[in-house]
Amino acid sequence: VVLEEVNRLCRGDHHYRGPHVYNSICTEPLPLAAEVADRYRHANLLDNRIFPGLTEAESRVTAMLGGLLGEPDSRGGITSGGTESNLLALLAAVEDFTRRTGRSRSRAEIVLPESAHYSMDKAVAVLGVRAVRARLETGRYTVDVADLASKIGANTAAVVVTAGTSESGAVDDVAGAAEAARRRGVWVHVDAATGGFLIPFLDDPETYPFDFRVEGVRSVTLDPHKYGYAPIPAGYLLLRPDGGDEPLAFASHYRGTLDRFSLLGTRPGWAALAVYACLRGLGFLGYRKAVQELMALRGHLLRSLDGAGFRPAFRPDLTVVGVDVDDPERVVDGLEGQGMIASLSRRHRFLRLVVQRHQTLDDLDALIGRLSELRASSRALP
Ligand SMILES: Cc1ncc(COP(=O)(O)O)c(C=O)c1O
Repeated sequence: VVLEEVNRLCRGDHHYRGPHVYNSICTEPLPLAAEVADRYRHANLLDNRIFPGLTEAESRVTAMLGGLLGEPDSRGGITSGGTESNLLALLAAVEDFTRRTGRSRSRAEIVLPESAHYSMDKAVAVLGVRAVRARLETGRYTVDVADLASKIGANTAAVVVTAGTSESGAVDDVAGAAEAARRRGVWVHVDAATGGFLIPFLDDPETYPFDFRVEGVRSVTLDPHKYGYAPIPAGYLLLRPDGGDEPLAFASHYRGTLDRFSLLGTRPGWAALAVYACLRGLGFLGYRKAVQELMALRGHLLRSLDGAGFRPAFRPDLTVVGVDVDDPERVVDGLEGQGMIASLSRRHRFLRLVVQRHQTLDDLDALIGRLSELRASSRALP
């Protein structure tokens, strides 16, 4: 009875597959990872005496992801997602600031682009520090590095940049920002929640240097539950192995190990195993193929939009495509009326479409067909 009740609750929900979901960075998990998650539902990553295998899986994942991002000896661990990873990274950076400068936490400032994810607002609020925003480059959605550099001062605890914003997919000039921060010994955090599982697998990853290969980068957020194809929740935080992770170690009241890299106490052990399964199951070549397929979908979408006479709002860096449309609210509502979920950038007023692997070429054609109908019906209005 209860199961039926639950099924009824979700009856109106959309499936990722089919011409429905055009706004989501998350998607169906890899079947292998879903199976692992189902089998190990009971496992608690807090308790590594009952479940030592989880800690081993987590440390292997840390080594694999660290290797991918240019620092095989990275410290790090699984989190519940980008929000938690960003909060923990800023906590480590702020503690580093108090040690480095002898100033109190309340003086600390975080310099970040206007385009930074709103999880940074939460982190800043929780930590009781001040956000200092750097403007974006005119006509683009990447941070203006000169403006960002001009905002770094004696109270800067961290400089944040984004490798793949969720709003436009823009990849900031991480090397430029890191250069400015490094001169003053300031922590650089890269939020690669979205881009972390995309950029390393592009044909030309050097276009967007964003990881530990960039001198000065101290921490990187990346999210297996986005383009890593792990089930939700599975985030990751990596830190350079230079002692900066000490503030993230909290001793429990009982005999056991320190709790690191996690805001949560009891947490899903299956997530570490599912991420491990994704990395081992897909491997570098599997992720590379997935990214090639995404880029083929994006190419088709851009060509078809152009063919149908729609203007792109910007040249996409990764998997977010922006379209300039008149009255974007009406367009988003009109799509939703046909069971198609797209989104719009509230700040920049473009229709925001996200390419993900649950889509097919036919799904993208269906979307463009509906967009063309909506445009025709708005022109028909008096
Ligand atoms: C760049 C970026 N940072 C942080 C987040 C927050 O991640 P989560 O929703 O997993 O907490 C997102 C989510 O889309 C993101 O794109």
